[in-house]
Amino acid sequence: MAAGDATLISADNEWSPLRAVIVGRAENSAFPSEPAKMIEATMPAEHAANFKPGNPFPAEILSKAQEELDNFAAILQSKGIRVYRPRKVDWLKEGGYTGAMPRDGLLTVGNTLIEAPFAWGCRRNEINLGYVDILSELGASGTSRICRAPQIVGKDTIYDDGKIKGFGNGNGDDSSHWIVNNSRPAFDAADFMRFGKTIIGQLSHVTNRKGVDYLQAIVPGGYSVEILETTDEHAMHIDATILPLRKGLLVYHPERTSKAALRGHDVFRDWELHAYPFAPQPREPPGPPMFMCSPWLLLNALSLDENRIMVEANDTQFASWVTDKFGMTPILCPFQHVNSMGGSFHCATVDLVRSSV
Ligand code: ARG
Repeated sequence: MAAGDATLISADNEWSPLRAVIVGRAENSAFPSEPAKMIEATMPAEHAANFKPGNPFPAEILSKAQEELDNFAAILQSKGIRVYRPRKVDWLKEGGYTGAMPRDGLLTVGNTLIEAPFAWGCRRNEINLGYVDILSELGASGTSRICRAPQIVGKDTIYDDGKIKGFGNGNGDDSSHWIVNNSRPAFDAADFMRFGKTIIGQLSHVTNRKGVDYLQAIVPGGYSVEILETTDEHAMHIDATILPLRKGLLVYHPERTSKAALRGHDVFRDWELHAYPFAPQPREPPGPPMFMCSPWLLLNALSLDENRIMVEANDTQFASWVTDKFGMTPILCPFQHVNSMGGSFHCATVDLVRSSV
């Protein structure tokens, strides 16, 4: 980085021009292994049997996903965006999952990069193993702040049944069906998105009330964390539920949230809110299995600025819709093998700098 250019972490929203980003990597990724009740709650039922210890993703999916990630990173670089890549890790040997989904583990809020206190045990070392070089480079600037996740001392209690059971859905209702309890803070960074000084998030099978409180306690002064009411019984990551295209314009999954729920947040008071009007189309020809996600992953786009957006090459109906209706310029990019492993462009990245003008 040029001398004097010390802004290494600075992002307040999801749509201002992207200047620096982390792009994940796929090598040696393995199916995450978590208790059966968590897998049943969050993963497509037909693929549940894969989620056991020591089970790598099929080699062909991994090598093609790696090519897709490298190609995507090269596209971003060609547009003048600074791209950081994590270390290559043997996730199979480490008992971990992947380096391809950094969005789940790191959240930028203003000048602060926050490591998620993952609910999933198999992800607890993910940032440590894959991203420490990036964190030390970013933390060296003096203008940015890196907040590592709290250490879990002793046995993790997050899956224990016991007195602390439901923690509500954000409306004072304690009859929640979430798999994790509220015994320690837990969240995945991908359950949150930046809308200026307001961070919008959701409670989910990986994000509990203490996690939300913890996030509120460590965001820089002036930012507040608000919980959107969602109705996704498999909730895990908000980035296939809402998609801001630019300031004042948001697309949402009509079965997971509603205009009324969104309007309940001051930040959306003057926004145009559009339900995505089509059911996601099956891909033609059928791509690799979607082991971990629903076809609504088409909403997991990444904005380069208020006009340009990265869209999976096969999601042509979605691409035409955002072009015709909103004048967006989608950049189509093959990403089906990354999708197969658990996410799309938003999941596979962490915005580090978005310029505010
Ligand atoms: N749970 C979402 C769905 O199946 C996918 C979210 C993926 N997001 C991520 N950050 N890994 O529709």
